Amino acid sequence: MIGAVNGALRRVPVWAVYLAGLLPLCWIIWLTLAGGIGVDPVKAIEHRLGKVALWFLIGGLAVTPLRRIAGLNLIRFRRALGLTAFLYVCLHALAWIWFDMGLLWAQAAADLVKRPYLLFGMVALALIVPLALTSNTASVRRLGPAWRRLHWLTYPAVALGVVHYLWQMKVISTEGWLWAAALAGLLVLRLPGLARLRLV
Ligand code: HEM
Repeated sequence: MIGAVNGALRRVPVWAVYLAGLLPLCWIIWLTLAGGIGVDPVKAIEHRLGKVALWFLIGGLAVTPLRRIAGLNLIRFRRALGLTAFLYVCLHALAWIWFDMGLLWAQAAADLVKRPYLLFGMVALALIVPLALTSNTASVRRLGPAWRRLHWLTYPAVALGVVHYLWQMKVISTEGWLWAAALAGLLVLRLPGLARLRLV
């Protein structure tokens, strides 16, 4: 059964995953233009982009455990998942600085002080930038074993993203706990891998 699924997945071109990754963005743009995004469009855009970023970040982390535990091979799509996550984190941060802060840097700095969870998001983004820049095949070859160590940063980056998400809620919702549980589960599943890399 899983062999058939993997066989079918092998026929899916990677570009289809990039294309599918753009669908939530098209949906957000469509809702905005059609006036259906809600009473507070800026907040809604910000929140929707952040949530999509989270889907792809967690999805990217799930690739290896899914292969190990269920035999599902999505490795070919991992780079697309990661880069799509990066796109949404950038757009999410851009929505904040542009629509919310009106590109006023002093106001943005004041907002960071007022809402420290934004700093967690910023650090998460800062960690993801080198990962996105070195996600190409040439970097994988050039960096060798250092590439794996660098890409281990995915874990703290996603963890910071999740903390940022939970912290911005006044009361953590059921959905929030589910995301936290998903992250915790994925981190635990990766512990043997981390041990092999001598990082824990
Ligand atoms: C890995 C990085 C990040 C992830 C995964 C992430 C994810 C999220 C999520 C899921 C939400 C709430 C969505 C909802 O409740 O529906 C959110 C809220 C927010 N995020 Fe991020 N975010 C990240 C980085 C950033 C960065 C770099 C900034 C820019 C400073 C930022 C600014 C915000 C703002 C302004 C809100 C709304 C807070 C509020 O309404 O009070 N985030 N983020």
